[in-house]
Amino acid sequence: MKKKVLALLKDNKNEYLSGVKMSELLNVSRTAIWKNINKLRNEGYLIESVSSKGYRLKERNDVFSKEELNLMIENYVLIDEGFYFDTINSTNDYLKKIASDFNHKNMMAVSHNQSKGKGRLGRSFESKNGLFMSYLIRPNLLPTQVSLFTQIAAAAIIKTFKVLTDLEVQIKWPNDIMIGQKKICGILTELNAELNQVNYLVLGIGVNLNQEKFSEELINKATSYKIETNKEMSIKVFLEPFLNFFTTYSEKFLNHGDISEVIEICRNYSMLIGRKVYVINQNKKRMVEVLDLTKSGQLLVINENGEKETIFYGEVSIRGIDQAYI
Ligand code: BTN
Repeated sequence: MKKKVLALLKDNKNEYLSGVKMSELLNVSRTAIWKNINKLRNEGYLIESVSSKGYRLKERNDVFSKEELNLMIENYVLIDEGFYFDTINSTNDYLKKIASDFNHKNMMAVSHNQSKGKGRLGRSFESKNGLFMSYLIRPNLLPTQVSLFTQIAAAAIIKTFKVLTDLEVQIKWPNDIMIGQKKICGILTELNAELNQVNYLVLGIGVNLNQEKFSEELINKATSYKIETNKEMSIKVFLEPFLNFFTTYSEKFLNHGDISEVIEICRNYSMLIGRKVYVINQNKKRMVEVLDLTKSGQLLVINENGEKETIFYGEVSIRGIDQAYI
């Protein structure tokens, strides 16, 4: 009901709606309307009430809630169910846990904080006061094609930062979004699959939005929108363009096998192309020079023997020669 009340207020943003009118439209009592208006107010919505006129929603961009998320995802065919939290252990783990209860559904979980955020290679991911989100998708793909979803997410994140900010964001192939030498967003893709069939993939994306500082260990390795700009950004403001880009790129890929725009973005914003980096695979460290990104999203390099080689996602970890982190 709360969601319906909110939708009604949003559809009539410029006029007052009386309690009577709302109760008629939604076919519930005036008390039910009043209770839900109060619930929305408690969540931070600014709802004016004028005795002879009724209720009106005042525009505020920074409130986010389960209802907001559900209203938002109605526009995106790729997502059937949305889950919203202030704090959860890990949005990836949450979706994996409920995967079998929601058979055949694609789902999204969003949280402001995570108490047990996971990074790649078994690391933890500091997750306070940001946008931590996961998508559980059941694509009809081979396990080997799934890594492209990491790049779809990376391209959508880059485009979102570009439309919303002036920040100089780059992709450290395949799954980090950086500002200079510091990470502003990390992506973790997990897979549940048979040998030649994907059951589902969970794409987890952690965007550092409003952190004012990081732990000692991360001070030189992580940054946030707030640290870079001295301004805050709400989850909602970031999520709207992100979902647009992410859905467009995913649909192109799933319906037409077309990944070209995504690769173009990953190439244009690559922080590795033209650089010498270390490729680390099972404790073996090799120095290579990065030439390009291939059409299918692999890294094309000149290896230590002067030969061209393609590096596949998941196989490696990349470290910079000159700077400690990349
Ligand atoms: C990395 O940088 O190593 C990847 C970080 C991925 C973090 C995201 S936040 C949302 C989702 N839930 C998690 O526990 N991890 C991913």
